[in-house]
Amino acid sequence: MSRDPHAERHQPSRSPRREVLMAAAAGLAAAAALPGGEAVAAAHTAPAGGGRPRGTGRFAGKSVLITGATSGIGKATAYAFAKEGARVMFCGRRTELGRRNEREIRDSGGEASFHRADVREESDVVALVAECVRRYGRIDIAVNNAGVETPRAAPLHQQPVRDFDAVWRTNARGVFMSMKYELTRMLRQRRGVIINTASISAEVGFATIAPYNASKHAVASLTKVAALEYADKGIRVNALAPGAVDTPMLRRAAEAFGTTYEEIAQDYPVKRIVHPDEIARVIMFLASDEASAVVGTDVDASGGYLTG
Ligand SMILES: NC(=O)c1ccc[n+]([C@@H]2O[C@H](COP(=O)([O-])OP(=O)(O)OC[C@H]3O[C@@H](n4cnc5c(N)ncnc54)[C@H](OP(=O)(O)O)[C@@H]3O)[C@@H](O)[C@H]2O)c1
Repeated sequence: MSRDPHAERHQPSRSPRREVLMAAAAGLAAAAALPGGEAVAAAHTAPAGGGRPRGTGRFAGKSVLITGATSGIGKATAYAFAKEGARVMFCGRRTELGRRNEREIRDSGGEASFHRADVREESDVVALVAECVRRYGRIDIAVNNAGVETPRAAPLHQQPVRDFDAVWRTNARGVFMSMKYELTRMLRQRRGVIINTASISAEVGFATIAPYNASKHAVASLTKVAALEYADKGIRVNALAPGAVDTPMLRRAAEAFGTTYEEIAQDYPVKRIVHPDEIARVIMFLASDEASAVVGTDVDASGGYLTG
């Protein structure tokens, strides 16, 4: 397909084709998963080399809770924290994948525990937080990453209410509930860091994906509100805004639109799809004391999309 991404980039109004590509990158899914996608993702995010010996590493002794780490960004983040010495409690709904990730991390010398939890269920979230505290004593870092994409591309008046509710329940309400119970624990500890996976879709509007776009704006809002409420209580809250990241979610979206990674990449200044490990490193920076002055932001981790 011939196209001039530079000409498109500077057009004030986006072409329908550009909207499709952006929607793909920002969170639209086909009803069915792309065959083999999970296997590809597993190959991408399996730990390179072994973990560090326990007790060493940048996050040695830290207890990290991650929602939605059976695949994609969450999985890469769980492996990355474990490799740096953290004790990682993570959840998802797919028990088999969760157990496999747990086993791989432990086999490579790290410490991780999978706990099945659905962030749409308050009792599951309460149990997840309790299990992290029971097993690791505290929650130093929480990464609220679980998310789903818009089931179908359509203008707002054609979006089924049930699709809005479904996306909202996971992406917005799920993050709210996760934060609610993590913060309750962190207040007792008088210390903690929360990082929410938002999106470039939290910062700009994307046509045809109202449910996802609204839910990610909500994540940015929850991040700002909590950052203000807890900044003087030893708790730092931030979000990050990935663009197009090579995960099963993006693969499903590309399949749904009949587009390719090469085409999607053209809309980003870096002209490539970001690897989940790169997002994990941004999360680790935000979680670290190096980011002690970073409060209430949604850090652009898109490869420059939000810059212009
Ligand atoms: N990939 C991108 O280009 C991109 C761009 C911007 C933002 N993001 C955001 O990044 C986050 C991770 O997405 P991803 O790209 O890594 O996609 P992914 O591979 O589909 O991962 C999504 C994760 O969320 C979990 N999840 C979904 N619903 C859940 C629920 N109700 N309860 C618990 N866990 C749930 C999934 O696990 P189970 O299925 O096992 O429950 C999975 O581990 C999402 O918030 C997404 O919106 C992604």
